Amino acid sequence: MIRVTRKYQFSASHRLHAPGLSASENAELYGKCNNPHGHGHNYQIEVSARGPVDQRSGRALDPRALDRLVKEQVLDPFDQRNLNASSTIFEELVPTTENLAREIYRRLGVNWQSVFPSAWPVLEKVRIAETPRNIFEVS
Ligand code: NI
Repeated sequence: MIRVTRKYQFSASHRLHAPGLSASENAELYGKCNNPHGHGHNYQIEVSARGPVDQRSGRALDPRALDRLVKEQVLDPFDQRNLNASSTIFEELVPTTENLAREIYRRLGVNWQSVFPSAWPVLEKVRIAETPRNIFEVS
Protein backbone atom coordinates (compact mmCIF):
# COMPACT_ATOMS: atom_id res chain seq x y z
CA MET A 1 0.00 0.00 0.00
CA ILE A 2 1.09 3.49 -0.78
CA ARG A 3 -0.18 6.64 0.81
CA VAL A 4 -0.25 9.56 -1.62
CA THR A 5 -0.63 13.12 -0.38
CA ARG A 6 -1.38 16.10 -2.55
CA LYS A 7 -1.30 19.73 -1.46
CA TYR A 8 -3.63 22.57 -2.35
CA GLN A 9 -4.29 26.00 -1.03
CA PHE A 10 -7.06 28.51 -0.95
CA SER A 11 -7.72 31.86 0.64
CA ALA A 12 -10.90 32.68 2.49
CA SER A 13 -12.23 34.86 5.24
CA HIS A 14 -14.34 33.94 8.22
CA ARG A 15 -15.79 35.26 11.39
CA LEU A 16 -16.11 33.06 14.46
CA HIS A 17 -19.48 33.75 15.97
CA ALA A 18 -21.76 31.18 17.60
CA PRO A 19 -25.41 32.04 16.94
CA GLY A 20 -26.53 30.57 20.26
CA LEU A 21 -24.34 32.90 22.32
CA SER A 22 -24.70 36.58 23.16
CA ALA A 23 -22.48 39.26 21.64
CA SER A 24 -20.41 39.52 24.81
CA GLU A 25 -20.10 35.73 25.18
CA ASN A 26 -18.91 35.51 21.56
CA ALA A 27 -16.40 38.31 22.12
CA GLU A 28 -15.13 36.54 25.22
CA LEU A 29 -14.96 33.12 23.54
CA TYR A 30 -13.36 34.08 20.22
CA GLY A 31 -11.55 37.35 20.95
CA LYS A 32 -10.23 38.99 17.78
CA CYS A 33 -11.67 36.17 15.68
CA ASN A 34 -15.14 37.54 16.53
CA ASN A 35 -14.39 40.89 14.81
CA PRO A 36 -17.61 41.68 12.90
CA HIS A 37 -15.76 42.28 9.64
CA GLY A 38 -13.99 38.93 9.72
CA HIS A 39 -10.39 38.16 8.79
CA GLY A 40 -8.63 36.01 6.23
CA HIS A 41 -6.41 32.95 6.08
CA ASN A 42 -4.36 31.23 3.41
CA TYR A 43 -5.42 27.67 4.09
CA GLN A 44 -2.99 24.94 3.11
CA ILE A 45 -4.71 21.62 2.53
CA GLU A 46 -3.25 18.16 2.20
CA VAL A 47 -5.41 15.32 0.98
CA SER A 48 -4.09 11.80 1.56
CA ALA A 49 -5.33 8.67 -0.14
CA ARG A 50 -4.16 5.09 0.14
CA GLY A 51 -4.09 2.24 -2.31
CA PRO A 52 -2.03 -0.41 -4.06
CA VAL A 53 0.22 0.53 -6.98
CA ASP A 54 -1.56 -0.14 -10.25
CA GLN A 55 0.52 -2.55 -12.37
CA ARG A 56 -0.09 -0.78 -15.63
CA SER A 57 0.28 2.90 -14.61
CA GLY A 58 2.74 2.40 -11.76
CA ARG A 59 0.64 4.77 -9.70
CA ALA A 60 -1.59 4.47 -6.64
CA LEU A 61 -3.71 7.48 -7.54
CA ASP A 62 -4.45 9.57 -10.61
CA PRO A 63 -3.53 13.08 -9.46
CA ARG A 64 -5.70 14.68 -12.14
CA ALA A 65 -8.76 12.90 -10.81
CA LEU A 66 -8.02 14.11 -7.29
CA ASP A 67 -7.39 17.64 -8.58
CA ARG A 68 -10.76 17.61 -10.31
CA LEU A 69 -12.53 16.50 -7.15
CA VAL A 70 -10.74 19.03 -4.92
CA LYS A 71 -11.38 21.84 -7.39
CA GLU A 72 -15.06 21.04 -7.61
CA GLN A 73 -15.71 20.32 -3.93
CA VAL A 74 -13.24 22.59 -2.14
CA LEU A 75 -11.53 25.26 -4.24
CA ASP A 76 -14.53 26.41 -6.28
CA PRO A 77 -16.86 26.72 -3.27
CA PHE A 78 -14.34 28.15 -0.79
CA ASP A 79 -11.47 29.98 -2.53
CA GLN A 80 -11.75 33.78 -2.27
CA ARG A 81 -14.99 33.42 -0.33
CA ASN A 82 -16.35 34.37 3.02
CA LEU A 83 -16.75 30.96 4.66
CA ASN A 84 -19.70 32.10 6.76
CA ALA A 85 -21.65 32.73 3.55
CA SER A 86 -20.05 30.06 1.33
CA SER A 87 -22.19 27.11 2.28
CA THR A 88 -25.45 26.57 4.10
CA ILE A 89 -23.57 24.35 6.55
CA PHE A 90 -21.84 27.42 7.99
CA GLU A 91 -25.15 29.07 8.69
CA GLU A 92 -25.48 26.48 11.45
CA LEU A 93 -21.88 25.64 12.27
CA VAL A 94 -19.24 28.14 13.29
CA PRO A 95 -16.63 28.11 10.49
CA THR A 96 -13.73 27.17 12.72
CA THR A 97 -11.02 25.22 10.96
CA GLU A 98 -12.15 22.13 12.88
CA ASN A 99 -15.56 22.41 11.23
CA LEU A 100 -14.03 23.36 7.89
CA ALA A 101 -11.78 20.28 7.99
CA ARG A 102 -14.75 18.04 8.76
CA GLU A 103 -16.80 19.64 5.96
CA ILE A 104 -14.00 19.20 3.42
CA TYR A 105 -13.51 15.57 4.44
CA ARG A 106 -17.26 14.99 4.16
CA ARG A 107 -17.45 16.61 0.71
CA LEU A 108 -14.54 14.58 -0.62
CA GLY A 109 -15.91 11.40 0.94
CA VAL A 110 -19.42 11.64 -0.47
CA ASN A 111 -18.12 12.45 -3.96
CA TRP A 112 -15.10 10.15 -3.93
CA GLN A 113 -16.69 7.36 -5.97
CA SER A 114 -17.57 9.74 -8.79
CA VAL A 115 -13.86 10.12 -9.60
CA PHE A 116 -12.49 6.89 -8.09
CA PRO A 117 -15.09 4.27 -8.95
CA SER A 118 -12.98 1.22 -8.08
CA ALA A 119 -12.13 -0.10 -4.64
CA TRP A 120 -8.86 1.83 -4.52
CA PRO A 121 -7.58 4.37 -3.67
CA VAL A 122 -9.51 5.25 -0.52
CA LEU A 123 -9.64 8.68 1.08
CA GLU A 124 -7.53 8.54 4.20
CA LYS A 125 -6.98 11.97 5.63
CA VAL A 126 -7.51 15.69 5.18
CA ARG A 127 -5.07 18.01 6.89
CA ILE A 128 -5.52 21.77 6.95
CA ALA A 129 -3.08 24.36 8.16
CA GLU A 130 -4.91 27.58 8.97
CA THR A 131 -1.63 29.20 10.01
CA PRO A 132 1.81 27.61 10.40
CA ARG A 133 0.89 26.99 14.06
CA ASN A 134 -2.72 25.81 13.71
CA ILE A 135 -3.07 22.46 12.00
CA PHE A 136 -6.14 20.23 11.89
CA GLU A 137 -6.51 16.64 10.68
CA VAL A 138 -9.55 14.50 9.96
CA SER A 139 -9.31 10.84 9.10
NI1 NI B 1 -9.38 32.79 11.76
